Amino acid sequence: MIKRGTLSAAAAAALLVGCSGPSWGPLASSPLERGDGASVFQSLFARNCAACHGREGRGGAALSLRNPAYLAMADDGAIRKAISQGVPGTPMPAFATSAGGDLSDEQISILVLGIRSWADPGALAGARTPPYAASNPGSVRRGADVFSAACASCHGLGGQGGARAGSVVDPSFLALISDQGLRVAVIAGRPELGAPDWRGDRPGRPLSNREVTDVVAWLQSRRVRYPGAPYPRPASRGFHDENNKEGVKR
Ligand code: HEC
Ligand code: HEC
Repeated sequence: MIKRGTLSAAAAAALLVGCSGPSWGPLASSPLERGDGASVFQSLFARNCAACHGREGRGGAALSLRNPAYLAMADDGAIRKAISQGVPGTPMPAFATSAGGDLSDEQISILVLGIRSWADPGALAGARTPPYAASNPGSVRRGADVFSAACASCHGLGGQGGARAGSVVDPSFLALISDQGLRVAVIAGRPELGAPDWRGDRPGRPLSNREVTDVVAWLQSRRVRYPGAPYPRPASRGFHDENNKEGVKR
């Protein structure tokens, strides 16, 4: 079995002492030959995170952790919580030893500081993102209108996929992303994949906080109860199985 964290807690603690702010100080007596905190961060990230978040956090199956809008809205507490506890119901694993993972608190601190060091405040040119967390559940009805006006041009009417982007109502997609993950996706976009952030969905006017909350409520309303249910439902009982129109036995 591959051990995910090879840094001892003591070594990691030694790295943190003497670091002031986000810049990495030189290591006086590190047992690691790698040299400085930045490279410890890089190797922790490469080993534990890059498979999903991409090389150097530039995006992969999961979002880029360098996304300037994401880093502007998520505070260190939110980033730490995601790493420590994971995001239940999604592929994002819990890494804290207290939650069954392999990373010490010190290693998680190195990751949080390292991810924070990717922030580029200038990248947003002074624009302020809507808040990280929704303050109310939003309106599905208004959200449908926001979707038609700001999203359907790429994702197709009803979100089923269009000329410029895929489906955002696919049951398996919606089954693997959290409500917060949808909010993050709408605000931060996936620039590395050509998905605009909250400023670029609709020409000329960024989405308001309320519009983001409403369109996320609409996406949530598209979730199905039994995504990818493995057993075809017998036609004789009157169920409609969209995935198995021929009634093939699976
Ligand atoms: C197996 C794939 C996988 C691995 C490995 C993984 N992540 Fe994630 N991560 C995800 C997914 C998927 C999400 C989005 C979850 C959701 O739907 O909210 C996510 C979300 C996050 C978020 C954002 C949470 C939020 O909404 O504010 C952070 C921060 C994060 N991951 C950090 C990390 C770090 C650091 C590591 C390595 C220690 C890591 N992830 C490893 C898949 C992964
Ligand atoms: C200019 C085209 C465009 C517009 C407008 C647009 N998107 Fe996207 N969106 C994309 C592309 C490209 C992707 C990347 C995946 C793909 O190709 O389908 C994407 C991905 C997504 C994802 C998945 C993110 C992930 O982490 O996998 C969600 C959710 C999403 N868009 C929601 C929306 C919503 C809601 C709106 C309207 C507020 C919107 N998009 C407007 C192009 C667009």
